Amino acid sequence: MRTVDLILRKRGGEELSVEELQYLVTGYTSGDIPDYQMSAFLMATYFNGMTDRELSALTESMMQSGEVLTLSDIPGVKVDKHSTGGVGDKTSLICAPIAAAAGVPVPMISGRGLGHTGGTLDKLESIPGFRTDLTVEQFRAQLLELGLCFIGQSEEISPADKRLYALRDVTGTVESIPLIASSIMSKKMAEGIDALVLDVKVGNGAFMKKQVDARRLAQAMVGIGRRLDKRVQALITDMNQPLGYAIGNALEVMEVSQTLQKAGPADLTRLSLELAARMIYLGKITPTLDEARKLAEDKLMDGSAYRKFKQVVQAQGGNPQALDRFELLPNASGMREILSPRAGFVSAIMAEDIGRASQMMGAGRARKEDVIDPAVGVILEVKVGEKVEAGSVLCRLYYTAEENLDEAADLIEDAFRISGARPEERELILEVVG
Ligand code: URA
Repeated sequence: MRTVDLILRKRGGEELSVEELQYLVTGYTSGDIPDYQMSAFLMATYFNGMTDRELSALTESMMQSGEVLTLSDIPGVKVDKHSTGGVGDKTSLICAPIAAAAGVPVPMISGRGLGHTGGTLDKLESIPGFRTDLTVEQFRAQLLELGLCFIGQSEEISPADKRLYALRDVTGTVESIPLIASSIMSKKMAEGIDALVLDVKVGNGAFMKKQVDARRLAQAMVGIGRRLDKRVQALITDMNQPLGYAIGNALEVMEVSQTLQKAGPADLTRLSLELAARMIYLGKITPTLDEARKLAEDKLMDGSAYRKFKQVVQAQGGNPQALDRFELLPNASGMREILSPRAGFVSAIMAEDIGRASQMMGAGRARKEDVIDPAVGVILEVKVGEKVEAGSVLCRLYYTAEENLDEAADLIEDAFRISGARPEERELILEVVG
């Protein structure tokens, strides 16, 4: 088999066989297939998509590229949650401790920032000392002890996704239904879970801009789960403005801490509680979803979810005091305000542009080897629907280097739309699939 022939066939819109996709995944994971050939294959897939057969074969090859864990020795129904990627989307760090505090074992394998979106691992690693590169044995031990552990794709679990994810991030091949579905489901199915809650984002800050595409992505992932005998439920949720107010790694951790202490933004709190409730329900802790919603709220309100998060931070080498004393988190050295050019209502905040601007300032990567700056980002002062005066602050940019700052500020200024009429309110949770 020659890689170039497979690229040509995919470019020509042909269906590849199970063996051919296995050859590509194995060859790329071992280093035999170089980045430039895999980039060409990814771009051909981006344009031509994949059949259901190809998607299953790609996902299973990626899943089999490392260890497939069995966690049957750990009591309970193991449930994880994953988002397809958004701006300011820090719900994993809130719903996972809530679900764990309610008694659901949560083995969570997360990703890094991708494109203009942030990643759970980068956010966690902004907590001084926090380690996500645990061995499988450490992962298992922590799950048994605390009921929650956060790790990343590694050489042991889903190494194919680790490499493909980093390559897609810098080759313009992120926004593809089969590539997103295989990336998410390969690592999730490798971690030994029984059930999964997915948050499929739709809107200007998501990879899927239209609800019909978000639905197709949700259905593809629910279908993969069903074929592998796992319960998967997907919420399709609005990403037409950043979630919460904070965008950028350490800034988002601060907002997570506030939310776990009942002082978080309404949209972030509401979505995190609903995701946690679905995890609790799929985890069979309660017989009904309504009871799960009540339990999720109790675990947030009585402080046990916050205590759980702090225990996990400590267990993974992080300093839990940083969650109460934000001066212990990485802090930016400079701040610039973006002001409203006129009075009116905020009618849109283009989340993708806010994400891109944060990435430019150092919160995300432009090349695979880039090191991110955990301190930088944006704090919104307003959300869609709010009234502003001319000259009032729309948001604040937190930076550590002047490089790219003007360009980022211009992008952010253009991201805010101010109009004379109050915009219609949008639903946050749009649909449930599965
Ligand atoms: N999250 C992932 O893990 N992979 C993607 O491709 C997108 C979001």
